[in-house]
Amino acid sequence: MKQQSFDVSDPLRLTPRDAVALSVLEHLCFSSPWKLEQLERALELPHFIAYGIKYQEKLLAYISLTHIAGELEILNLATHPEARRTGLARRLLIHAVSDTRRLGAERLVLEVRTGNIPARNLYASFGMIQTGLRKHYYADTGEDALVLHKML
Ligand SMILES: CC(C)(COP(=O)(O)OP(=O)(O)OC[C@H]1O[C@@H](n2cnc3c(N)ncnc32)[C@H](O)[C@@H]1OP(=O)(O)O)[C@@H](O)C(=O)NCCC(=O)NCCS
Repeated sequence: MKQQSFDVSDPLRLTPRDAVALSVLEHLCFSSPWKLEQLERALELPHFIAYGIKYQEKLLAYISLTHIAGELEILNLATHPEARRTGLARRLLIHAVSDTRRLGAERLVLEVRTGNIPARNLYASFGMIQTGLRKHYYADTGEDALVLHKML
């Protein structure tokens, strides 16, 4: 893993005030980004949790999850294209799991595009295993989704 060549923040819990920065990152990283209004609404919800890593107030990476009835579901995880492969996504994943375990999270689940090799490698290195396949799950490309799972 490459080392970070600059001092980034520790993972921080994001709030509705971070919605615009989150929306910018979403548009840079995803073909079907969440809309700003969706993010603003989600960040108000008690079961929606987002953590980010910043550099000088600029959001470089984030993870969003829901925590319902012991199940932690990763909704999105993204790193700014210029800050990739420096360990930010892994740091966020580890932090999110350790922080929410305190709140009673027992299982981690997520869906990932079959062709998303960077994300699949990250989740595999975190011990996540495939428990399902959703055919033609993604409306934009028709790509299948792998369902991954890990007991915490
Ligand atoms: C997937 C993503 C979040 C990874 O973020 P990142 O901060 O670059 O990841 P890290 O630096 O923490 O890398 C952790 C591990 O992921 C895997 N990985 C990351 N980028 C990779 C790449 N380009 N090719 C292969 N494996 C990769 C590696 O196993 C890596 O560990 P290593 O560097 O020790 O080999 C990033 O590529 C991204 O934002 N992609 C677009 C959005 C997306 O697809 N999100 C996932 C939704 S499920």
